[in-house]
Amino acid sequence: MERKEFLKSLGAGAAFALVFPCTQGCTKGPEFETQPVPEGIDFTIDLSGTDGAALENPGDFILRNFVVIARNLEGNFVAASQVCSHQQTDGVTFVETQGGIFECSTHGSRFSQNGTPINNITQNPLKIFNTELNGDSLRVFE
Ligand code: FES
Repeated sequence: MERKEFLKSLGAGAAFALVFPCTQGCTKGPEFETQPVPEGIDFTIDLSGTDGAALENPGDFILRNFVVIARNLEGNFVAASQVCSHQQTDGVTFVETQGGIFECSTHGSRFSQNGTPINNITQNPLKIFNTELNGDSLRVFE
């Protein structure tokens, strides 16, 4: 059976789907789930438990409520949206390159610790959250 005949036998809708599979944009797929940027953030992390152990060393980070909470290379706590400002995937983590930055694994956007984009993937700043340490209690808030 010739290709044209095969497509004709499938009907117009199926043939269109086979020939033009990326009408909704090929960069999106199941691995690129999008999320809304977190709003109204105000929560506390108990550093005396497992979260504290996970944040013990410079460069460590945890993910909570779509927020990346990290101990930067100077030992201070910083927090940013896990949802990227480029295409709103939840691929942002903290990496130790360039003195400690936020980076999105989806397309490689990089942001300084104040949210400023530092490469050309996006010009949109990453949302940054405040942190406040009181004993073993770390508050993360807007
Ligand atoms: S969605 Fe993060 S770099 Fe594109």
